[in-house]
Amino acid sequence: MKILIKNGFVVDPSSGFNDVMDILIENSLISRVEKNIQDAFDTLIDATDKIVMPGLVDMHVHLREPGREDKETVSSGTKAALRGGVTSVLAMPNTTPAIDSVEQVKLLKKIVQKTAHANVFLSSAITKGRMGQEVVDIVALKNEGVVALTDDGDSVDSTEVMREALMKARDANMLIICHSEDRSLVKNGVINLGLISTQLGLRGIPKESEYKRVERDLQLASATGAAIHIAHVSCCESIALIAEAKAKGTRVTAETAPHYFTLCDEDLMGYDTNLKMNPPLRTCKDREALRVALRDGILDAIASDHAPHTENEKEIEFDRAEFGVIGLETELAVSITELIETRLLDWSALVQKMANNPAKILGILKGTLKVGADADIIIVDSKREWTVTKECFASMSNNSSFLGRTLKGKVVCTIYGGKVVFKNT
Ligand code: DOR
Ligand code: ZN
Repeated sequence: MKILIKNGFVVDPSSGFNDVMDILIENSLISRVEKNIQDAFDTLIDATDKIVMPGLVDMHVHLREPGREDKETVSSGTKAALRGGVTSVLAMPNTTPAIDSVEQVKLLKKIVQKTAHANVFLSSAITKGRMGQEVVDIVALKNEGVVALTDDGDSVDSTEVMREALMKARDANMLIICHSEDRSLVKNGVINLGLISTQLGLRGIPKESEYKRVERDLQLASATGAAIHIAHVSCCESIALIAEAKAKGTRVTAETAPHYFTLCDEDLMGYDTNLKMNPPLRTCKDREALRVALRDGILDAIASDHAPHTENEKEIEFDRAEFGVIGLETELAVSITELIETRLLDWSALVQKMANNPAKILGILKGTLKVGADADIIIVDSKREWTVTKECFASMSNNSSFLGRTLKGKVVCTIYGGKVVFKNT
């Protein structure tokens, strides 16, 4: 089976591509990337005037299986991924029960083998049951194929437990992903603490709850020599701390999500629960700082933090609604609209943040168009505008922050494992 993609503008800084080229796919691998390939093929795809890039690697996705199959499943979540141009996801372990043991990983791997439509990489909790007390068996989990550890949804409050986890992770050469949040400072907050929370009469979440915990996690990483990745960075103070740690040589990488660099607490005036997530949308000053940090490389990756919830859990009073928004199907278009169209990033930088870097951080052989790599490729119409509606989603949930927005940039073709798996003509 040979697929020839002709005349697309091929962007992949990990292989030095940034030009009009052809790509030949043979037996599910990328076999040639050159100008004007003349070869036999079974399928020809004309990518004239389109951008061709590696399938995106989203390192922060809640697939909800096992336990909350009413919100999302491995099947529905990976279908949504393909629509959004994402061919590899890292599944978060805050499922019911949590993924924290070899047995749980084995069960989830079976579900993935049977039902996934894209690459699903597994993470495990840092602590048993995500209770913050007993560190999981990192070596056994690594041997079972887990690529990172995170108690995402919660932070490990005990400094001693976190230190122990980091030392064990360092020895096993395993990445720890930090959900940096000091709950004792959050109390019952629901949006960013500030003028807007006062105006709306909603309890506020102070930024300290994030950056003080980022500071602790960075100190522990530096002291132990372990590699950490800070998830969903939302405020300028966290950025400054990460920049400082990077300059000192701490092994730290960091991500933010499209809602944080696009929206801010001022958008909450209508009490829209699809703008409620944890950490919360911060101020417009923070939003600008996140954009600059993406440009300057302080933030390494863009991840969706795809967090599906049912209508029963979202379409209720603001205080009671669940935290979290979906994002797999909008993250690329939002990033194109907000970062490329505004000339903050060029295409190469975007491919770095959404494919090359996350793959590198996770140590997986994905997110690249290198000859010999798995043929996970997307073709994007950078000029096509579309409006986000509930009908767009393959996800089982609709809780998107971007409903009703018109975005620029549409995935017109997703190739996964050398097969065309999604087409939008
Ligand atoms: O908004 C959020 N939702 N933040 C998290 O950290 C967890 C996530 C979820 O699992 O719903
Ligand atoms: Zn989180």
